[in-house]
Amino acid sequence: MDRLTENANLMIVSDLDHTMVDHHDPENLSLLRFNALWEANYRSNSLLVFSTGRSPTLYKELRKEKPMLTPDITIMSVGTEITYGNSMEPDNGWVECLNQKWDRNIVFEETNKISELTLQSETEQRPHKASFYVQKDKAEDITRSLSTCLKERGLDVKIIYSGGMDLDILPQGAGKGQALAYLHNKFKAEGKLPKNTLVCGDSGNDADLFTVPDVHGVMVSNAQEELLQWHAIYAKNNPKIIHAKERCAAGIIQAIGHFNLGPSISPRDVTDLSDSKLDNFDPAYEVVKFYLFYERWRLTEVDNSELYLANLKAVCSKFGSFVHPSGIEKQLHDCVDSLRTSYGDKKGQPFRVWVDQVLPVKVGSDSWLVKFKKWEQSGGERLCCLTTALLSSKDVTVADGLTWVHVHQTWLKEACPSSDAEWLF
Ligand code: GLC
Ligand code: MG
Repeated sequence: MDRLTENANLMIVSDLDHTMVDHHDPENLSLLRFNALWEANYRSNSLLVFSTGRSPTLYKELRKEKPMLTPDITIMSVGTEITYGNSMEPDNGWVECLNQKWDRNIVFEETNKISELTLQSETEQRPHKASFYVQKDKAEDITRSLSTCLKERGLDVKIIYSGGMDLDILPQGAGKGQALAYLHNKFKAEGKLPKNTLVCGDSGNDADLFTVPDVHGVMVSNAQEELLQWHAIYAKNNPKIIHAKERCAAGIIQAIGHFNLGPSISPRDVTDLSDSKLDNFDPAYEVVKFYLFYERWRLTEVDNSELYLANLKAVCSKFGSFVHPSGIEKQLHDCVDSLRTSYGDKKGQPFRVWVDQVLPVKVGSDSWLVKFKKWEQSGGERLCCLTTALLSSKDVTVADGLTWVHVHQTWLKEACPSSDAEWLF
């Protein structure tokens, strides 16, 4: 990735449904814990890759439903589509690799003959992926007979069964593992192979990820039978693969700790954030910490103490200003004062705050310009501001943290409110 000038410290390649995203956790707590950990400690020197079975259409739907970070690379449709960055620029080189011994029409001609196969929705049929539903007890036989007849028709395909219901047919060279291996080769050619890679999954289409050389792997605690079975047969003695004790994103955090891949304590698990001592100034950590305090303050998860406001004022420049997304400018100190009346105003409500793509740039010997997206979910409404903050370490010691000098926010076009009166920071 162009953003990184050196090898990434860590590349996380994670499946989404039931791995990064826990569909049984309406509060998304483990996902939010992972988000805070990633943004505070990894975003600027590491790579986040989502690798999902979903097509671009269903992937975008999931992004609207769940508080997910923006990955550096998105691999969709079971490793058949690779895109980069916010704009999701496709990797056309990868598509070319997939045309070998593949013909979608022939695949459908053969699958049409099998009555036990039910076609998935039109959105999930992609240029290099044909997807069906099939009952668990039929899956093995159908896979075997399909393999044989497609081979006879000159194709070389890979058939994957996932989640005890989904059957995908892909070109042999496709799959989540091949897509990752392709990326690894690309990075290697640029001299930027990540120092460590952690792959994370829960179901059949993730097995492929665990076969990529030199990766660490975590099967989350809630992994499907088909993945555990695959592991028992092919990878049982590989110490670089663990079956986590924790579900979904919490299992990913557990694996980071288990393999010593870097910090593994999420700022969300630190109750007294003012106590968290750092060895040097860390603008990303500072941003994460501030917005966690802000969430807790409005939920009454911290005490209603003047001390907090005094501490906040101490880290805001006296002359600092805040440009609200409505265009109104206020003094930072006045903003801190106005927090007093919003203590507990979201108590008992599903209110969450998270930051995404926190990227600090050093702009002077003692100052950083930090750009990020600040999201706020209150009930059903989800708002986001593109935020820039100027932070300075001038005249402070490391123990004091950094001083906020200027904050400027603009509504993200697709997530702006009907009225901006309720938005504080
Ligand atoms: C996702 C896709 C589906 C696929 C399944 C397993 O659910 O939407 O098409 O079959 O992943 O890979
Ligand atoms: Mg999954």
